[in-house]
Amino acid sequence: MEVIISPTPDEAGKLAADAISELLQRNPEAVLGVATGSSPLIIYDELGRRVAQGSLSLAKTRAFMLDEYVGLSADHPQRYRNVIQDEFVDKVDIDPAQVSGPDGLAVDLSSACEAYERAISDAGGVDLQILGIGTDGHIAFNEPGSSLASRTRIKTLTGQTRRDNARFFSGDIEAVPQHCLTQGIGTILQARHIVLVASGRGKAEAVHQLVEGPVSAMWPATALQLHPHVTVLLDTAAASRLQLASYFIETYQGKPSWQGF
Ligand code: GLP
Repeated sequence: MEVIISPTPDEAGKLAADAISELLQRNPEAVLGVATGSSPLIIYDELGRRVAQGSLSLAKTRAFMLDEYVGLSADHPQRYRNVIQDEFVDKVDIDPAQVSGPDGLAVDLSSACEAYERAISDAGGVDLQILGIGTDGHIAFNEPGSSLASRTRIKTLTGQTRRDNARFFSGDIEAVPQHCLTQGIGTILQARHIVLVASGRGKAEAVHQLVEGPVSAMWPATALQLHPHVTVLLDTAAASRLQLASYFIETYQGKPSWQGF
């Protein structure tokens, strides 16, 4: 696990965009995993700038989303497919038809989850997965207690997550759906490279557990310790509880320039 601590969230976002640019230079048809939440927005903005400048193209890529609320209408602005459209697809040059997410409006939700797993594997798997982290250590919508081997399935959101996400629903916790479909932790761990971004003091405990805690379903993000290629991009506040912070800073300062991500 490589941990990079930047002074600001913007710096961390640029590094994530660098990792994506490096990948797409090697393989323009790479498959991206995209995440919702506020943390990845700086990445999408930076990718948008690079596409507008002509230094990057996502025209040949495919993208898979992590999760989706169950039951939000097709035109609901907080439906994750719509959020990804506004925050990512509309800013870059990816073909919208090549962006997929779990179908939270399916009549048969279990079959929709199985179909989603098949779609990811038919595409050859995810090359680079962008991830955020919840204050309770969830990744995608894998709440505490999730199986570390889980696959895409229906989950019930915790009160904490519904409170955290109420800000996207005019502060109304009751408007936040109780259920979601989410890639499992086992699904996420199959991505070839995982880039997690976190900023702000509110994430400091979850980040401490992710990087330094014991692997445990109580902090689902700790499963990432089992993955061979994870990059954790933090601002100073999110890194504020790390015991190894100075080691990570030293390591990054001394990183050979040829090493890349
Ligand atoms: C949501 C998403 C997660 C995201 C988390 C943190 O619950 N399902 O994928 O990582 O929120 O979001 P934020 O970055 O807004 O704090």
